[in-house]
Amino acid sequence: MSPVTLETDRFVHGAWGEAAHDLEWHPGRPLNIGWHCSDRLCRLGLGEKPALLWEDHQGNARRYTFDDLRVLTNTMAEYLRHAAGLHPGERICLFLDRVPELYFGFLAILKMGGIAQPLFSAFGDDSLWTRLDNAGTAAVVTQRKHLGKVRRARERLPELRAVIVVDAGDLALAPGELALDLERLPRVERFAGHATEAEAPSVLHYTSGTTGQPKGAQHVHLSVLGQYLTARRVLDLRPDDVYWCNADPGWVTGTSYGIIGPWANGITQAVLDAGFQSDRWYAFLEKYRVTVWYSAPTAIRLLMRDGSELARRYDLSALRHLASVGEPLNPEAVVWSRETFGRPFHDTYWQTETGSIVVANLPGMEVKPGSMGKPFPGVTATVVDPQSGEPVGQPGRAGLLALRPDFPSIIRSYWRNPEAFAAKFRNGWYLTGDRASIDGDGYFWFVGRDDDVINTGGHLVGPFEIESAMLEHPAVAESAAVAKPDPVNMEVVKAFVVLKPGREVDDELELEIMNTLRKRLSPLAMPQEIAFVPSLPKTRSGKIMRRVLRAQEWGEPVGDLSTMMED
Ligand code: WTA
Repeated sequence: MSPVTLETDRFVHGAWGEAAHDLEWHPGRPLNIGWHCSDRLCRLGLGEKPALLWEDHQGNARRYTFDDLRVLTNTMAEYLRHAAGLHPGERICLFLDRVPELYFGFLAILKMGGIAQPLFSAFGDDSLWTRLDNAGTAAVVTQRKHLGKVRRARERLPELRAVIVVDAGDLALAPGELALDLERLPRVERFAGHATEAEAPSVLHYTSGTTGQPKGAQHVHLSVLGQYLTARRVLDLRPDDVYWCNADPGWVTGTSYGIIGPWANGITQAVLDAGFQSDRWYAFLEKYRVTVWYSAPTAIRLLMRDGSELARRYDLSALRHLASVGEPLNPEAVVWSRETFGRPFHDTYWQTETGSIVVANLPGMEVKPGSMGKPFPGVTATVVDPQSGEPVGQPGRAGLLALRPDFPSIIRSYWRNPEAFAAKFRNGWYLTGDRASIDGDGYFWFVGRDDDVINTGGHLVGPFEIESAMLEHPAVAESAAVAKPDPVNMEVVKAFVVLKPGREVDDELELEIMNTLRKRLSPLAMPQEIAFVPSLPKTRSGKIMRRVLRAQEWGEPVGDLSTMMED
């Protein structure tokens, strides 16, 4: 039996009833995110309203209305279903930079009943292959610049039938590779879509844990109730807003709040397909007169580093609401944004698994700098004792942050990994894997992660993946990857390596190991430092104690080693 307990009645009369009402959904009726984010808005008369204001790093700009969104996603859905021969329920990966086809492709996959599997386009060979292999992906939509990686992965992926290239031009394609030129395809006014059930799988996002390969968090179409309502209430979206979410749709923030939440609300989104640069970002905020901005602590710290003076050179007067997610938001960042932008960043907390914001500083609520805020109405959150699994029930006492798994956007499973999914639940609570405390006013305070996952610049990196890649170098006998403090990214990866007997440390070897990793992982997972050590601390049963290494990096007490040795 699934540990997720959904009482559909709550989606009609309870806290989520407002979303169901607005989206005109009733239990038992079909529900399709792709349709909700495009066709429905056209029906409501928003067809001519801009949906996407897109710009890339070279300054190329494009503008699409909701009617364009409707027709282009229809066109792409038709293509995927009929030209590419893909079926409802099949996993279709989007391996693209933030080009318009990524946004259209995401909704198109959902429209035709496929499962969208967005992957960060900077992933290297191993990171890509592992996730496609686990998902049994049927097709990858990509662009020329990433085709080499996809081709190499495909050699070892018998289930991968089609590779679709959105900018193939005159490129010679191999069998099974298709060119999709969206602008040239006949526009499909009506897509005889797959009327998906509310509980039909929608999105598969991969997320890392301490052990094993990344897990595919599987969401359903019903999640739109959560994304719709939280986007409206937490991000404070209003009809005339121009909204900018910095996140790449390779990560959950980039889909839940970079596609679904805002578009289900009929909001105009601005998208910048370019890396971070303070002046570039300010110019973008100014040019599009962005009113609501959803960003991340690492980006804010980078902006702080470049100073308020720079910000003052731009007209940012349109900004009305600021929110942040992904890592603890430092109190200084809240104070700085108040001084610089005239308003504070509002911290929000959630995870790939929760699908939508679960704890937040709602607009109008008193912000306690450093606190994540309070549970979103409709979400029951608490802090449980790690031993008993029961709520600690005492203000200020830290424990495991836990949620009742009864809100629409909570994941329904980890793809092909029911054991890992079952392990996330205890006494009817979903355990987030984070530690937190609740103060006397009901505000939640983040303490830290309860596992060895590294949060670098808001991106989770699992030690297992890095360590596996490191072991592929012939000189490496053992390795451990842990978080090391960093002023901008909060954490960066530090690797510890034990070499095989007879191998000596030198610069060349270090470079070789780095190159091994670079090809296989993403830039985020690259260690900032490699320490060559004679041995690693281990439990008696031989498990590497990353906690000991981590504590050393943070100058924290290592804790009671005798009990850890008993593990
Ligand atoms: C961390 C991103 C502190 C936390 C949406 C969580 C945070 C993980 C916050 C999820 C916050 C997210 N304060 N930590 N406001 N928001 N985290 O799955 O450890 O990529 O479990 O989802 O990021 O990261 P994920």
